[in-house]
Amino acid sequence: MSERFTFNLKATDGKARLGEITMPRGTIRTPAFMPVGTVGTVKAMYLDQVRDTGADIILGNTYHLMLRPGAERVARLGGLHELIRWPEPILTDSGGFQVMSLSGLRKLDEKGVTFKSHVDGSTHHMSPERSIEIQGLLDSDIQMQLDECVALPAEPKEIERAMELSLRWAERCRVAFGDQPGKAMFGIVQGGDQPNLRIRSAEGLKQLDLKGYAVGGLAVGEPQEVMLDMLNITLPVLPTEKPRYLMGVGTPDDIIKSVARGIDMFDCVMPTRSGRHGLAFTRKGKVNIRNAKHAEDKRPLDEQSSCPAARDYSRAYLHHLVRSNEALGGMLLSWNNLSYYQDLMKGIRQSIAEGRFEDFMAETQEAWTRGDD
Ligand code: GUN
Repeated sequence: MSERFTFNLKATDGKARLGEITMPRGTIRTPAFMPVGTVGTVKAMYLDQVRDTGADIILGNTYHLMLRPGAERVARLGGLHELIRWPEPILTDSGGFQVMSLSGLRKLDEKGVTFKSHVDGSTHHMSPERSIEIQGLLDSDIQMQLDECVALPAEPKEIERAMELSLRWAERCRVAFGDQPGKAMFGIVQGGDQPNLRIRSAEGLKQLDLKGYAVGGLAVGEPQEVMLDMLNITLPVLPTEKPRYLMGVGTPDDIIKSVARGIDMFDCVMPTRSGRHGLAFTRKGKVNIRNAKHAEDKRPLDEQSSCPAARDYSRAYLHHLVRSNEALGGMLLSWNNLSYYQDLMKGIRQSIAEGRFEDFMAETQEAWTRGDD
C-alpha cells in the first residue's frame, strides 16, 4: 500500500498493458473491472461476495448519492466506505452523465448544470466545483471531472461545443481538487465520433497533467467499430504512464478488444443489470436462463467455475427462480456474472504477464462463439 496515488506499468504485450494502481485504501490490479454500486450498493450482492469475486475497487455515483441520502449526510455518517462497509478504493462518477440520462428538465451552461431530481422533483445545481466537493464529502478515492457527454449520433458542432466545455470544466475540477496525494482526479476525453475532436480533447487534458484519463462519450449508440476506432485514435495521444479508463463499457467482447488497444480500467452495469434480467455470462457465451429449453436442464451454468452460483445450482432451478421473479434468481445470476467478468480480467492479466494476450483473446472469443449446446 502507498501513501500516494501511483500507477506502475508492469508489462505490455502489444498494446495491452498490465499494471497496478496503489493508493492508501488498496491496490488495483489492471486491467480492472469495477462493479457498479450506483446508490451505495452493488445491486443484489453482498460486498463480501463482490470482494471475493476479485474486485479491487467499486464505483459509486455522485448524482444518485447527492440526491439520496445526500452528500453531507454521507459525510456525517463517516463517508461512503464506512457507510457501506467497503474499506477498499471507490471511484465516483461526477454526475454529468447521469444528469443527462436520468433527470428531468435540465439546463446546462458554462457554470454547470441545473436539473430536477428523479427522486422528488426538487431543483439542484451542480458546478464542476460542487461535483468535486460532493465527491470529497463521499470520500471517494478516484474522482471524475464534471463533463458533458453527447449521445450519438450528433452534429459535429454540438459534439465540439460539449468537448470544449468539458475541457474547461476539467481545468476547474483540477483546481477544486487541489493537491491530494493519496487520491486522484481523472479527466474525461470527449469528442464523440469525430477523430479531430478526440485528439484535441486528449491533448488538452494531457496539458493539465492529471493522474489518470478516462475516455467517455462511447457506447452511447454508435457501433462497436466506431468505439474501437476512437480508442485507436485517442489512446496514443494520452501519456503511457497514467491509467486509462473506458467509461460505461461494456460486453466481455468490448472489454477484451479495448484492452488490446491499451485500456486499463472499465465499469459497466451489464453483469449486474443483465443478471437481474435473467442473462448469464459464461465462458461458453451468453445464456438466457428464461428460455424454456432450460426448464429441465440439470446442468449448472459452468461446472468448472470457482463461483458457487455458476457451479452448484442447476439451470432448471435458476430458470424457475427467474421466471418466478424471485430475488434469489437475480442474486445468483449477478454473482455468476460478476465472477465471470472478474475471471475474464484475471485471465487477461495473466496472459499479458506471460506474453500470450493475443492467443488468450482468440481462444476466449472462439469459446464464446462455439457455445455449449
Ligand atoms: N459513463 C459512461 N460514459 C460517460 C461519460 O462520457 N461521462 C461520464 N461522466 N460518465 C460516463
